[in-house]
Amino acid sequence: MCFKKIISKAILVFLMTAGVAYAKVEKTFAMIKPDAVKTKVAGKIISMIEENDFEITAIKKMTFTKSDAETFYSVHKGKPFFDGLVEFMTSGPIFAIALERDNAIAEWRKLMGATNHLEAAEGTVRKLYATSIRHNAVHGSDAEETAKEELKQIFPDL
Ligand code: CMP
Repeated sequence: MCFKKIISKAILVFLMTAGVAYAKVEKTFAMIKPDAVKTKVAGKIISMIEENDFEITAIKKMTFTKSDAETFYSVHKGKPFFDGLVEFMTSGPIFAIALERDNAIAEWRKLMGATNHLEAAEGTVRKLYATSIRHNAVHGSDAEETAKEELKQIFPDL
């Protein structure tokens, strides 16, 4: 292969690799919690999701059983807020949502805002709709492995 061809092939490979790294399409799990469903702001939150370029690949309204909630939040078992969290999460319906976009996990967490609504940035879902650290309107997976597990638990056929 001549020098010119080698160089153009190398440039092509570099651009393809950089492009893939730049536009890493990720999946994440999002949830609109019972407080936000009860106060009828689920539609507004779904609009925020769409306006921020997420693809909603699955969505369902469901109510967690005690066992669902305990499994979903098993990482928090033993913490002082665990029982209250399970009680809250089983208190009414939620919207479970599967999302896709580039850097979906970080981007959805940025749009949600801090867990504690008092620390949430302006314009975030929690700043707008959360009323306490427990009643914080939404949930989002915190890492790739967690996203896989949460999506598998709620959307086993996806
Ligand atoms: P979430 O992002 O779904 O992850 C775990 C949830 O536990 C969190 O949102 C809150 O709803 C709840 N949580 C976290 N910390 C506390 C706390 N200190 N007191 C009560 N609830 C909490």
